[in-house]
Amino acid sequence: MAVVSLRNFFVLSLALNVSLILRTINQNEKLQSGALMAVQKGAKVSQMAFLSFPSLSSPSAAAPEIQTPLGSERIINLDHGDPTMYEQYWKPMGDKTTIVIPGWQSMSYFSDVKNLCWFMEPEFAKQIVRLHNVVGNAVTEGRHIVVGTGSSQLYLAALYALSPQDSSNPINVVSAAPYYSSYPLMTDCVKSGLHKWAGDATVFNKDEPYIELVTSPNNPDGFVRHSVVNRTGGILVHDLAYYWPQYTPISTPADNDLSLFTVSKSTGHAGLRIGWALVKDVEVAKRMIKFIELNTIGVSKDSQLRAAKVLEVVSDSCEQAGGLEYAESFFHFSHALMTERWRLLREAVKRSGLFSLPNFSSAHCSFFDNNLGTQPAFAWLKCDRDDVDDCESFLRGHKILTRGGKHFGVGPKYVRISMLDREETYNLFIERLSQIRL
Ligand SMILES: Cc1ncc(COP(=O)(O)O)c(C=O)c1O
Repeated sequence: MAVVSLRNFFVLSLALNVSLILRTINQNEKLQSGALMAVQKGAKVSQMAFLSFPSLSSPSAAAPEIQTPLGSERIINLDHGDPTMYEQYWKPMGDKTTIVIPGWQSMSYFSDVKNLCWFMEPEFAKQIVRLHNVVGNAVTEGRHIVVGTGSSQLYLAALYALSPQDSSNPINVVSAAPYYSSYPLMTDCVKSGLHKWAGDATVFNKDEPYIELVTSPNNPDGFVRHSVVNRTGGILVHDLAYYWPQYTPISTPADNDLSLFTVSKSTGHAGLRIGWALVKDVEVAKRMIKFIELNTIGVSKDSQLRAAKVLEVVSDSCEQAGGLEYAESFFHFSHALMTERWRLLREAVKRSGLFSLPNFSSAHCSFFDNNLGTQPAFAWLKCDRDDVDDCESFLRGHKILTRGGKHFGVGPKYVRISMLDREETYNLFIERLSQIRL
């Protein structure tokens, strides 16, 4: 009996020690990431330059595994904008965003029968309004919120809702090139009689009704955008997937008729498949809701609840940054990370001498209360070599997979490269790009 309790004592003491060690490691990690934060309100851009993310090493100091032969053989796939980079923030957050959903919960189709958007979880709607108020990137007052299975579903819902229902001809859908490569594919996917893709908005000159998609900041090139067709009777859809402080200075709260947002690019939770629309006109909102009802009879409640929790933690991190719970805000962290990635990329491009990147002027960001640059989620890279017409093939020859300009309505000299992959992949990419020579 005494032997058993002594053994039990040892097991218990071992377990306690392991948990103490784990807690210490965890706290050290949190402290390390806390040291990064410090994008303080009012700090100058030059002061912010030191805010590089310490674990993002320069190519010369890259992690050992990257320099192995396996590293040089590895195919680097930066074709998709998969936001796995953000795991780096969420992992140390541990259980802060954990939710438990018992088997009997989330069973009904309905979430809130009093709401126009009857399949939207009230907590999700609450956290959307809160986050927009905290960040200052969109007006929510007087808007109907519509939740969707990603902003992709909301894009289709918006086209359905905005297309004239009684016209004999499909309405033209345009966007200034380079435009997000999925727009033409999604618009014409089911060869609808309601709408059709009509290409580059900058050359659209038909005297016909149109819907213009304004993506700001733009995917693929990162520039802030406004409508270009500018004709009376045109209908605008603003895709604001990237209008968040880590990518672009927040100038004013967006105040559009119809804006689309997504957790995929704001918090990095693409796998939740959750987006939302802010819609001014109640009839448009109703038709969008009808589309989602006909399409998927609502949106996963489990995903909405997870998204609500993630958004709550993001807002908490902004409001309590510098405190015991949150050393820094989510946006301070991700802004610092993007700053460092762009610094490394520009350095590598300069070293190779074969490519060029867009240049962005700085602007005042109301969120950081600072004059800041732009650091898009994608790099829009141009191959300057005269003997290389197809930049996508050229980079594929170096085992770097990108998406070529033709998908975005421009020439093959351009490629789009995701800046949101995991650190190891990104460092390997920088290393590989730096080594490409004439
Ligand atoms: C401009 C733009 N809009 C919409 C989406 C789709 O987002 P979601 O994952 O919410 O469907 C993307 C994804 O890359 C995007 O870049």
